[in-house]
Amino acid sequence: MDDGKVGKVYIVGAGPGDPGLLTLKAKTLLETADVVLYDRLVSDEILNIVPKTAKLVCVGKASGGDEKTPQHEINRLMMEEACKGKKVVRLKGGDPFIFGRGGEEAEFLARNGVPFEVVPGVTSAIAVPALAGIPLTHREYSSALLILTGHSAAEHEDEKRKYEELWRHAAKLDCTLVILMGVKSLERNVALLLESGKSPETPVAIIERGATPQQRVIVGTLRNIVEVTREKNVKPPAVVVVGSVVRLREALKRSLES
Ligand SMILES: C[S@@+](CC[C@H](N)C(=O)[O-])C[C@H]1O[C@@H](n2cnc3c(N)ncnc32)[C@H](O)[C@@H]1O
Repeated sequence: MDDGKVGKVYIVGAGPGDPGLLTLKAKTLLETADVVLYDRLVSDEILNIVPKTAKLVCVGKASGGDEKTPQHEINRLMMEEACKGKKVVRLKGGDPFIFGRGGEEAEFLARNGVPFEVVPGVTSAIAVPALAGIPLTHREYSSALLILTGHSAAEHEDEKRKYEELWRHAAKLDCTLVILMGVKSLERNVALLLESGKSPETPVAIIERGATPQQRVIVGTLRNIVEVTREKNVKPPAVVVVGSVVRLREALKRSLES
């Protein structure tokens, strides 16, 4: 399609990895896209849905390197392909608006008058614990949920202080904490929670590569989770759950695993 008409960008959530967790809308868009710009965490099974005739571009890493494609370059690619009249799918892991920079990309497209639509996805924050047998709320355990990033983008001292303050507040809330991008910073964040009064016996689960055949679930408490994680050599991507709901896994896991 290159008939002078402006195309459209679809900012689509791919869910946590299992193609069965794609929305029907996401699947249809992938089957009919001209161009797919995808992030590193999108699974191969999902990318296999894209027809061979479509242009498939990984923007999670610059070619051959560890560096991500810069955001301004991703923005440029989306706009360029849409202006050629193409149907562009900007495919992101989980939900595009949960720590996925989908908001920034939507702002860019809106500012530049490029037609776009958002297709929400199943976020790893909720689906990964669920698949590991951890309901994030439960009438007897927790009636609220806070989703945090373990990795702060803060560069300035006052921003760093604000981020630490958020963790200190979080420690005082009687709710489930779900931490994305939380493996590398686990030691510092666990220390912040403990210093701010969270009980060392609070249960913690770390779910590595959830919703994939490689899923591992590591369980401990705030007292020992840093050590256990080190022993088991836990690597990103992983979702960290802090709170008493983690105890429910014991009762649910046998049925889930059989
Ligand atoms: C940049 S954030 C993007 C989150 C995404 N937008 C979402 O809604 O799931 C990436 C983080 O999501 C989490 N994550 C995404 N997919 C995961 C998976 N299959 N298993 C465990 N964690 C996952 C990890 O914490 C990872 O570091």
